[in-house]
Amino acid sequence: MNATANKTIVVGCDHAACDLKAKVITHLEEKGYLVTDVGTYTSDSCNYPDYAHAACVKIQQGEAALGILICGTGIGMSIAANKHRGIRAAVCADTFSARMTRMHNDANVLCFGARVVGEGLALDMVDAYLDAAYMGGKHQTRVDMITAIEDAEANRG
Ligand code: RB5
Repeated sequence: MNATANKTIVVGCDHAACDLKAKVITHLEEKGYLVTDVGTYTSDSCNYPDYAHAACVKIQQGEAALGILICGTGIGMSIAANKHRGIRAAVCADTFSARMTRMHNDANVLCFGARVVGEGLALDMVDAYLDAAYMGGKHQTRVDMITAIEDAEANRG
């Protein structure tokens, strides 16, 4: 991954989360990150798997290091994101979990719900997630086990 991609966060949302996504993007840019916004861009009803997929492909293709996906609850986005090979998406509603999922699970996508958390908590979670570092070590064994499940499922056909 090149230096630009390494500083790039891909961000996506559905119609429930356009306003919060805009605040997250401003916050990320203020922190010095580059942002790729895969939509949606209006409050017209849409389907969150489209945006989860668009964001996860960017990560899989090495165009972004990490992703942030927001829908009403964060749940639909996380379920859709976790169907992608190599994506570890965590839906969070507290800063401790947001920090720990980076440190222990090497989560490469943070999800949350615009109907669950307010702007202040959302931005705190973003900071906790981005400012944390993956610990590796024994946690890598467990992440490798998740990858092995993913490989086995793909091969099962
Ligand atoms: C849309 O109404 C809502 O279902 C969606 O934003 C999300 O919460 C799904 O998990």
